[in-house]
Amino acid sequence: MLRIAPSLLASDFSDLKGQIALAEKGGADFVHLDIMDGHFVPNITIGPPVIRSLRRLTRLPFDTHLMIENADAYLEEFRKAGADIITVHYEACPHLHRTVQRIHDLGAKAGVCLNPATPAMLLADIIRDVDLVLIMSVNPGFGGQSFIPHTLEKLRETSAMIRNLKPDVMLEVDGGIDDVTAGQVVEAGANVLVAGTHIFGSSDIPRAIQTLREHGLRSTMI
Ligand code: DX5
Ligand code: ZN
Repeated sequence: MLRIAPSLLASDFSDLKGQIALAEKGGADFVHLDIMDGHFVPNITIGPPVIRSLRRLTRLPFDTHLMIENADAYLEEFRKAGADIITVHYEACPHLHRTVQRIHDLGAKAGVCLNPATPAMLLADIIRDVDLVLIMSVNPGFGGQSFIPHTLEKLRETSAMIRNLKPDVMLEVDGGIDDVTAGQVVEAGANVLVAGTHIFGSSDIPRAIQTLREHGLRSTMI
């Protein structure tokens, strides 16, 4: 199964309602929400009040990517606002196991995310406790960056770890995903594709989602 998670970061923020409707029309599985605090990453985006407003517009699960320091202090607020999956960064959470437990206690699915320079083997003692692993294929903070090729090796390594330790963990990849890289990352084991620019920069958003899925799936049929 391949899931597509359009990232609203690249969408037209003056018409989030329309943009979400187009994502739904294209068969999106999740809505990917990028939360940035200007500390952990050098950019500021949206927070719980915006998520709360968006929650009324769709039933699609909100895949919430927290690029923030001190995530623990905000987990409850994000959950109450409507986050279904809450993913935190390995690099920003000193007590990661406790953070993951807290996300589960709040009734959400828990994800852990690795920056491009953080090795996959560091997941060994947390993978059994999470529902999703997010591998960054660009440095977090901005949309529209180029895919970092060595991410493919990290996806393969992470995918093997998931197979051995907890096969139902979702393996998500985020950054520089387009029709070309989609096939490569799926071949390397990814089963959730985040894409911002490729989808929302397209003149036909629903079609962009469909073709991304086709390109991803094609690699599994060879
Ligand atoms: C980057 C964000 C991504 C971003 C991806 O920090 O986590 O979700 O929106 O954007 P594209 O698909 O444009 O690389
Ligand atoms: Zn993201």
